[in-house]
Amino acid sequence: MKKIIASIIMAGLAVFAASAQIRIATPNTEMIIDGELGGDLCFMYYGNILSDTDMESLSTAGVPWNDVYPVYGIWTDGERALEVTHSDGNLSTCLKVESVSTRQEPSAKVTVIRMKDTAYPFYVNVCYRAYEDVDMIETWTEIENREKKPVKLTRFDSGSIPIRYGNVWLTHLAGSANNEGRLIQEPLERGMLVLRNKDGVRNTHTDHPEVMFSLDGKPLEHTGQVIGAALCYSGNYELRVHTHGGSYHEFYAGINPDNSAYTLEPKEIFTTPVLAFTYSDEGHGGASRNFHRWARKYKLANGTQTRKILLNSWEGVGVHINEEVMDQMMGDIASMGGELFVMDDGWFGDKYPRNNDRQGLGDWCVDKTKLPNGVQGLISAADSHGIKFGLWIEPEMVNTESELYEKHPDWVIKGLVHETKHGRGGTQMVLDLSNPEVQDFIFNVVDKIMTENPDLDYIKWDANASVMNHGSQYLPKDKQSHLFIEYHRGLINVCERIRAKYPKLTMQSCATGGGRANYGLMPYFDEFWVSDNSDALQRIHIQWGTSYFYPANAMAAHISAVPNWILDRRTSLKYRIDVAMSGRLGMEVQPKHMTEEEKDFCRKAIAEYKKIRPVVQLGDLYRLVSPYEGHNMASLMYVSEDKSEAAFFWWKTELMWSDLVPRMKMAGLDPDKKYVVHELNRVDNDELDYEGKTFTGKFLMEYGLEMPFKHWVDSELHRSDWTSRVLHLTECK
Ligand code: GLA
Repeated sequence: MKKIIASIIMAGLAVFAASAQIRIATPNTEMIIDGELGGDLCFMYYGNILSDTDMESLSTAGVPWNDVYPVYGIWTDGERALEVTHSDGNLSTCLKVESVSTRQEPSAKVTVIRMKDTAYPFYVNVCYRAYEDVDMIETWTEIENREKKPVKLTRFDSGSIPIRYGNVWLTHLAGSANNEGRLIQEPLERGMLVLRNKDGVRNTHTDHPEVMFSLDGKPLEHTGQVIGAALCYSGNYELRVHTHGGSYHEFYAGINPDNSAYTLEPKEIFTTPVLAFTYSDEGHGGASRNFHRWARKYKLANGTQTRKILLNSWEGVGVHINEEVMDQMMGDIASMGGELFVMDDGWFGDKYPRNNDRQGLGDWCVDKTKLPNGVQGLISAADSHGIKFGLWIEPEMVNTESELYEKHPDWVIKGLVHETKHGRGGTQMVLDLSNPEVQDFIFNVVDKIMTENPDLDYIKWDANASVMNHGSQYLPKDKQSHLFIEYHRGLINVCERIRAKYPKLTMQSCATGGGRANYGLMPYFDEFWVSDNSDALQRIHIQWGTSYFYPANAMAAHISAVPNWILDRRTSLKYRIDVAMSGRLGMEVQPKHMTEEEKDFCRKAIAEYKKIRPVVQLGDLYRLVSPYEGHNMASLMYVSEDKSEAAFFWWKTELMWSDLVPRMKMAGLDPDKKYVVHELNRVDNDELDYEGKTFTGKFLMEYGLEMPFKHWVDSELHRSDWTSRVLHLTECK
């Protein structure tokens, strides 16, 4: 067996003069790679922590020995993670391990394997961060040009992993605006499967840069081996699974290289985005819980905190903002127990007031005709209602009908030759974030709002256009292909600056709904708007898919009006509430149009939600029955870490008499604990038979409870063909 031969410890940095098997370990999992000095860096194992005995014999058991970071040139067949044209025009690269070092971070150990080309002073650091308290391993590379002249990178993945054949299934999310996060599960066949995005600005309307591999057959929620992967990037990405004649599905993930060839100057280092891996033998549920724990602790702004219950003005009043309406909405949400009001689009613009979507973007000054007392006046009003105040911005965008565009036409992304196309409203363009002046401008938009209104609690940051008219007026002619990459570097730079100055500000990432649910941006945002589609039925599907990778406190879910503005569907108020309560609850209505009875029902539901908010937003998710499986229903539950409490959700997705509805077996509870069952948001004339009754966790998980398939009600408000149940389980000692 190859062994680590020597190590030199230098002030927290361990440099191994020679090493072979490198173990990258989290509490329950490890990745093992072979990295003998002067040799190739080869993948050996990823799974549960190995015993010493198995470790000793591992290399004889048959391991992939695939290159961890395959490069193009010596071998030209198959897929590669890195493709380089060296300064002399040569297209081949050959990397060997030069050194291995480790460094300790507060909650993680970082391992850096430095690789050098055998002919050129060209280096790649393959880096790993293994967390000590969550089962997540992050990998990325640092590509360094020490040649005398620039080299060109035409592919630059963050990493790759081989996955052994054997009825492997891929789970990923696909969709479109208003239908985000659709769950796709398919067996991996031979050929190339590519998931990618080319929008330039928003990257999660179509597919997501996150996947799960079920290693032992059709995906199951509670059992089965799963490898999950998330590319933490806000821009264009490409995930590929190559299945050819060998024994492995080769998975690659990185920035999409299309139209993005990158000239790496001498001494420049190109750092690829983090690619995070998790492994679980508790099925998809286990992998999701690993993602959620990691997200809350390390990848989501203020991730271990619960979120406020808010009313957003968009679906209620659109751009028809004025002081009186805002005050009325604030009063209404406060009276229902809400904690925050968010004024959406329509509040800004002077010469070009934002009365429609043709104008105003870029002019982030208050429209004094609508709001004579400015944002400060609204914050004071919110304060008098006992709630907080937030507002909407779309700072990366500009309308050609704006003072900003008149002053800085050179700041927009625009082809250098052809006639330009415009987006929303026929006038929307994207600001060129590769330009540091634009970055400063955007930082200053937030900084000015915050300086003038230090009590502002929340910002909804929207982005409603793709990169059109590829072209930067800032980047030199020979670096136009850097635009997509530089845009996202610029965006992250702005986010870093904002977060350094305003760490406690709550920020929502929105991009025409759920176009920006990605782990590249999440470290700077507390949550994202899951979809502009707020129809409760479709939201069950959208939120279900999104929950594979994102925790509930990141997923903004709002009660909206009926008929739904997108689908015209009329779901019951209870149903809309019961769906929204399974995420970060909010409202998206004009409460003026609600009856007192409806408001009263919302008031009670908000009070109930406050009781289950910690377990929903910070608890462990157990998905029970999928809406995608055709049972005409869906169900999931959240369980607190100490298993003393749970919130159970059950939604009928279609009502049929004598339907074959499964009895609801719960999951994640402590079999030995006893739980009292209490129904929330009850509408039926009579209590459930088990209301207030006590059951063991064992009984609830093994035998479960029946859910009456419809509501038996007299109240006209609640008579409908939409059925749902929310149960609160509390430990009875
Ligand atoms: C986008 C968002 C909506 C709303 C509008 C405002 O569509 O997704 O939630 O903020 O912009 O113009």
